[in-house]
Amino acid sequence: MADSRASRFTLIERGSSSSSLSDDVRRGLTAAPKSLPPHHFYDELGSALFDAITRLPEYYVTRAETDVLAEHCDEIAAAFGTPARLIELGAGSARKTRLLFDAVLRRQEELEYVPIDVDPTILERSGRDLLDEYPSLRVAAIASDFRAPSRALAGALDSGARNVVLFLGSTIGNLDFEESIAMFRDLRSVLREGDVLFLGADLKKSISVLEPAYDDALGVTAAFNLNLLQRINRELSANFDLKRFAHRAFFNEERSRIEMHLVSREAHSVRIEALGLDIPFAAGESIHTESSHKYDTAAVERIARESGFALERQWTDSNGWFADFLMRR
Ligand code: AVJ
Repeated sequence: MADSRASRFTLIERGSSSSSLSDDVRRGLTAAPKSLPPHHFYDELGSALFDAITRLPEYYVTRAETDVLAEHCDEIAAAFGTPARLIELGAGSARKTRLLFDAVLRRQEELEYVPIDVDPTILERSGRDLLDEYPSLRVAAIASDFRAPSRALAGALDSGARNVVLFLGSTIGNLDFEESIAMFRDLRSVLREGDVLFLGADLKKSISVLEPAYDDALGVTAAFNLNLLQRINRELSANFDLKRFAHRAFFNEERSRIEMHLVSREAHSVRIEALGLDIPFAAGESIHTESSHKYDTAAVERIARESGFALERQWTDSNGWFADFLMRR
């Protein structure tokens, strides 16, 4: 008999070591040019909106990676090594990860899964669903900012199994080159030799595919972007009028990244009560809210090399739009 659900689930919070919303808003909105870090998108509504984005016809990213995993999961699981233990940075709803659970559980009887996400509500919900679906799964969830993995994972790597760190969905795309290397070096410092980093990275492709993926016809991505201002209104008693800001997304060729911005439609100022700040906006002034980098194999190879991982293998979807890379510590 499988153990009860409760005995197979733990959730710990490793908060506050990372930057808080108030610090980031103060810093980002008093700087020139203005910016806000993208991990604050993911409050409860933001996570739900992102989930909706992954189902949009224009947002190929999730489908492309699902194709990669569905097509190659047994080969991928074999390459991980047995017994494996899956740790996921930015786990979210873990929908795609199920393909890897299925493949790994064809090779071993039991599996420990350590999902890490900034949003504890999504960890609770997806943890509960997973335990219902997988009687031989144990979930040790960690609510934390994953950008300093050594801190998020402190004490969570002490088993005899091969640690396989999943960083799927091109979440790495939010980081620039230097930041990705710093994060992977930090991760490497807590892994053991032979442990694995399994990285999903969105590849460079035509602008006519890239831009609609971040500016969809239904306006879901616009809502996702604007929700950041709504969150600041609610949590920091600000008075952003969302109608005065426009969602803008474009491909920056030179830096090989999609940029998302919120552009002020007119000159006005916004009060942020909790910070005692009045923030002036010029007409057309923008807040840079997200970068989503697009890669080629050479770029991923460089990141692996400079952070101390060996790039062993890669798997691509049939369009050549997305790749998952296996790197070994
Ligand atoms: C979760 C960072 C991979 O950049 O494609 C989707 C977030 N932003 N649409 C991405 C996102 C707007 C997504 N990542």
